[in-house]
Amino acid sequence: MNKDVIQAQIEKQVEQMKETIANAKDSAMLKQIQVELVGKKGTITGMMKMMKDLAPEDRPAFGKQVNKLRDLAVKLIEEQKKKRLEAEQETKFEAEKIDVSLPGKKSKIGSFHPITKGYYEIRDIFLGLGFDIMEGPEVEYDKYNFEMLNIPKDHPARDMQDTFYVSEDIVLRTHTSPVQIRTMLNQKPPIRMICPGRVYRTDDVDATHSPVFNQIEGLVVGKGITFGDLKATLNTFLKELYGEETKIRFRPGHFPFTEPSGEVDATCKTCGGKGCSVCKGTGMIELLGCGMVHPNVLRNCGIDPDEYSGFAFGLGLDRIVNIKNSITDIRLLFENDVRFLKQFK
Ligand code: PHE
Repeated sequence: MNKDVIQAQIEKQVEQMKETIANAKDSAMLKQIQVELVGKKGTITGMMKMMKDLAPEDRPAFGKQVNKLRDLAVKLIEEQKKKRLEAEQETKFEAEKIDVSLPGKKSKIGSFHPITKGYYEIRDIFLGLGFDIMEGPEVEYDKYNFEMLNIPKDHPARDMQDTFYVSEDIVLRTHTSPVQIRTMLNQKPPIRMICPGRVYRTDDVDATHSPVFNQIEGLVVGKGITFGDLKATLNTFLKELYGEETKIRFRPGHFPFTEPSGEVDATCKTCGGKGCSVCKGTGMIELLGCGMVHPNVLRNCGIDPDEYSGFAFGLGLDRIVNIKNSITDIRLLFENDVRFLKQFK
């Protein structure tokens, strides 16, 4: 083969190669070009095999040229690879670019239900007075909810606390007072406890009634506990809750499980005692029932009423929370509408 022909072929090859490499759009294409040029069966590798067709004196020069051609191919491919890689990265970075000055996504943080908040506030006052926290089941024995609290089967007080019967002798508790029984059965005096919880009654739903509501029970049993202790404790508690200026009124009341019994009113927070729609013009709001633990109840729990005495109270948590927050419809507390709940953060 003529050396000039080969020379021309090589030059043509260089031009062609430069063009294909420059046009390679991505690294995959370059890889292919590399195989086609300098791979085992590549064009440039093939040229080496043409050596044997040349005159011996032309061979070294030809070999050199082909080697140069191969080096050039490798160099061009490498350069193009680098360029492509940079370009590819550039587009990738461009696509992934984030604007750190954009406002972040706000995560919504929940808050305590007003009932929970109200309970915590009351709980903390009683913890400060040295009370323990007790719990009892919402599905309760009739015996604990009524009978041992001095409310036998035929007692008219049962009418006011009609409830949901799970069976003949199991009910949804109508008040937290059965926890008094559970505590006294389990623990020897001195006892000083409060117990929060959900209670149930077959009331029709309206702005002030719900078949499920919340109470906090209180019980103190010890030697020499008097009505004076009851008054002092509730006075301290209510003034702590509503402010030192709050007026507190004890009225006689009746509960089968306390004797004597009383009901406690406090100055209406909404009008400050002047009289308004919340307190129905009386200036006072009824908050809780209380009394000295009935000797029968102590006896039912194996506590000798000649040795020990005690007082108990039960307050309507929903009522206290509503008054505190000027909520006029109890249903709002159970509907769990976030627009309502958000207002108590
Ligand atoms: N359990 C009574 C009620 O639900 C309240 C109460 C509790 C009264 C403790 C006296 C003593 O109405």
